[in-house]
Amino acid sequence: RLRAAHGLSWLVAQSGDHPSRLLHHPWRANPYPTYRRLRSRGDLTPSRLPFHAAATRAAVDQVLRGRDFGVRPPADVEVPGQFDLLDLSFLQRDPPEHGRLRSLARPAFSPKRMADYRTLIEDVAEGLLDRALERDGFDLMRDFAQPLPIAVISGLLGVPEHERADFDRIGAVIGASLDGARSARHLQEIREAAAELDVLLERLVAERRASPGTDVLSTLVAHTDEGGLTTTELSAMFRLLLVAGFETTVNLIGNGTMALLRHRDTWERLVEEPDLIDNAVEEILRYDSPVQLTGRWAHRDTEVQGVPVAAGQQVMCLIGSANRDPRHFTDPDRFDITRANAGEHLSFSGGVHYCLGAPLARLEGRVALRVLSRRAPRLRPTAMPTRRDTLTVRGLSRFPVAPGG
Ligand code: HEM
Repeated sequence: RLRAAHGLSWLVAQSGDHPSRLLHHPWRANPYPTYRRLRSRGDLTPSRLPFHAAATRAAVDQVLRGRDFGVRPPADVEVPGQFDLLDLSFLQRDPPEHGRLRSLARPAFSPKRMADYRTLIEDVAEGLLDRALERDGFDLMRDFAQPLPIAVISGLLGVPEHERADFDRIGAVIGASLDGARSARHLQEIREAAAELDVLLERLVAERRASPGTDVLSTLVAHTDEGGLTTTELSAMFRLLLVAGFETTVNLIGNGTMALLRHRDTWERLVEEPDLIDNAVEEILRYDSPVQLTGRWAHRDTEVQGVPVAAGQQVMCLIGSANRDPRHFTDPDRFDITRANAGEHLSFSGGVHYCLGAPLARLEGRVALRVLSRRAPRLRPTAMPTRRDTLTVRGLSRFPVAPGG
């Protein structure tokens, strides 16, 4: 079995030790009891393999911000599996290279751009619901949560209408590769999708050169022409934005709708008081984070909350556990959209890799849930949702609902 997005899932899969429990099925349905046990053992749980699991908020925060840690292994450490399954640009680079690449993508997420994107997001959300609400029942994931972020990222990257079907299909394969390849065949499928994406990108780049616009891709193409970005770097950045656009916000919308409908009083309150939406989105991110974990390598001998970590060891940062740490969040298992410090979750990571798309993700989540609660105030689940079988990303694949009578 081949398993390694960041080398991390591979390590977990190979481990006979405690954190291996993280891979098993009951854990995926509900990882929170396992997290609680890990936190009760302390800030860091060591394993026989060269990695620790960071479970408390203090420990996860310290590792993510710490200068002793990086996303790449130190030069003398050999990494198992396909560490570089797909190059995802600056997500997988340490400073100073990280900063150079990130600064080229940053203008796409400026406050001015967010104002432009709002109308696009609203139009997409309304259009999807126009179609979904014509029926007695629909699938919240397939008909709303999935197509919304995909349409937004396609618009943002300037993918023209006639390329959308190909882009969606390729994006689904590349997006789902975050956990690594499950088999040699899966690996092949991912590589083929990446090659197809490069061909599509080449076409888009040629179009932008012929008639530049104000979109993200036009800006990046200008950088390649001026020598600030190589074609290989551009292609990696394109993949990163695609993965981020396809795999994360969909689960903010899905996990959020599920949490709200399971706490019916909260859903009704949001319908009555739409201004609660900003804080509700923060609480959703805290309560059921779309990205559950990320990994870091110690670049030198260091410590985390007083526990020694040797150079070359890997630390698995359990974001979902940090967000339920009772030392930071009172009554952490309670879903409370009025929680005062809900926004102190680590769902967008921390330090230099803090999610570049966080303003866009927040905007999409707010608009989507706001429009949904306004248009379908009596929304209700009609069957048990189906959970996705992934480790890093937490979310649903199917969630049948009805707009209610
Ligand atoms: C990085 C979460 C949406 C773009 C990250 C990281 C996390 C994260 C945890 C850092 C991983 C690490 O530290 O190893 C999320 C969540 C989202 C979301 C929970 C939705 C709810 C988006 C969107 C975009 C985006 C919509 C853009 C289209 C990025 C980029 C990075 C990143 C470019 C790399 C930042 C860097 O390495 O400097 N995201 N993300 N994200 N995210 Fe997001």
